[in-house]
Amino acid sequence: MAIEKGVEIAPAQGKLGVLLVGLGAVSTTFIAGVEAVKRGLAEPIGSLTQMGTIRLGKRTENRVPKIKDFVPLAELDDLVFGAWDIFPDSAYEAALQAGVLEKELLVQLKPQLQKIKPMRAVFDQRYVKRLNGTHIKEGKTKMDLAEQLIEEIAEFKRRNRCARMVMIWAASTEVFMKPHPVHRSLQSFEKALKENHKAIAPSMIYAYAALRSGVPFANGAPNLTVDIPALIELANQNGVPICGKDFKTGQTLMKTIIAPGLKSRLLGLHGWYSTNILGNRDGEVLDDPDSFKTKEESKLSVLEYILQPEIYPQLYKDFSHLVRINYYPPRGDNKEGWDNIDIFGWLGYPMQIKINFLCRDSILAAPLVLDLALFLDLAQRAGMKGIQEWLSFYFKSPMTAPELYPEHDLFIQLMKLKNTLRYLRGEELITHLGLEYYD
Ligand SMILES: NC(=O)c1ccc[n+]([C@@H]2O[C@H](COP(=O)([O-])OP(=O)(O)OC[C@H]3O[C@@H](n4cnc5c(N)ncnc54)[C@H](O)[C@@H]3O)[C@@H](O)[C@H]2O)c1
Repeated sequence: MAIEKGVEIAPAQGKLGVLLVGLGAVSTTFIAGVEAVKRGLAEPIGSLTQMGTIRLGKRTENRVPKIKDFVPLAELDDLVFGAWDIFPDSAYEAALQAGVLEKELLVQLKPQLQKIKPMRAVFDQRYVKRLNGTHIKEGKTKMDLAEQLIEEIAEFKRRNRCARMVMIWAASTEVFMKPHPVHRSLQSFEKALKENHKAIAPSMIYAYAALRSGVPFANGAPNLTVDIPALIELANQNGVPICGKDFKTGQTLMKTIIAPGLKSRLLGLHGWYSTNILGNRDGEVLDDPDSFKTKEESKLSVLEYILQPEIYPQLYKDFSHLVRINYYPPRGDNKEGWDNIDIFGWLGYPMQIKINFLCRDSILAAPLVLDLALFLDLAQRAGMKGIQEWLSFYFKSPMTAPELYPEHDLFIQLMKLKNTLRYLRGEELITHLGLEYYD
């Protein structure tokens, strides 16, 4: 499909404020990483916006620019970081505490990291039971807290002379919550904010404040947060892009790489058992069954959607799927995941695949935060609003329009993302048909 001229995109001029909710392992690894890359100390490995390319036109044309040269993205030098946390530690102290990056690197970045001091958080222990912080806002109602955040966002923008902003939730996973009637419309949501309704979690207050301020919002955790009709309505009303939920890293990333391959070859699945040991604060929070339930829902849905048991009952009906996370402090951020996959082939003969992934959670998540910040900002400058399904590539539980099922296959997600960029620039969409080369 050829598009005449693409979409008008405002230039990426001026500073882009990146507001992070939570200044823990993921956020500090992201910020320190950007500072290290800016100084030429390291490479932005894992970031599509920094290292990825995009093929344009026919394969014979040899047009393969870098994505960042193809669409106008904010430069790393133009990023300014802000954060909220329930602990007052600066990004330097928080990065040391997270123990992801080596002290030697952090010391070189100390002046930049020490300047980033978190603002007081909107927090309520009923939504994250394993944490107990001191650096917290007070307010009579949840609406009061939202107004304080809105004021802080405006103040941050003024003080740092930002042209534009984005907000990313990289705070702890909240307890499992089902959609509630007060989430159904903006009107009922705002009434509930004023009445301190328990169906409004702190993450929703941040998302509401962002959207009221015209700031795009991404949700890196599996909490409902912005994935409710009231906030989707507000995003559409204010022309703000949103996306989520739950960064796709580690074991789920592997699942969405391997499962599409098994399904392509019509190999059956009896069961998939996944277990993890994890020793960081995220692991500690997820040790609480209510927070784990939120994560579990997000991790479990992936295989069902990719394998489509209703379409392939002989291959995928009733497969067992178990996911466990065990908090094991000695391991820190260096998670270890095991997968045992029981598959079957021709005539039903069984086989097994074992995966032992010694991964580093925040090393996998940091480039996603960078890409999401830059792509959300691009989306806003291109006039896109509401749910950004083309960013499904980054999430375990991608947000979609209510009538759609989410697309989990990593390769389809990447194609969707790149075709969206081609569409924005008026380039031909790539279908991979390729018959024209043989005419
Ligand atoms: N690292 C990954 O690969 C990965 C993948 C998917 C999702 N996530 C999610 O990203 C989030 C961050 O992960 P992490 O490893 O950085 O965790 P972390 O525990 O190191 O950091 C989270 C930070 O959020 C703070 N916090 C909690 N509630 C807050 C609130 N209401 N307002 C402000 N700050 C708050 C905590 O004090 C902590 O400093 C978690 O929800 C995690 O589940 C991480």
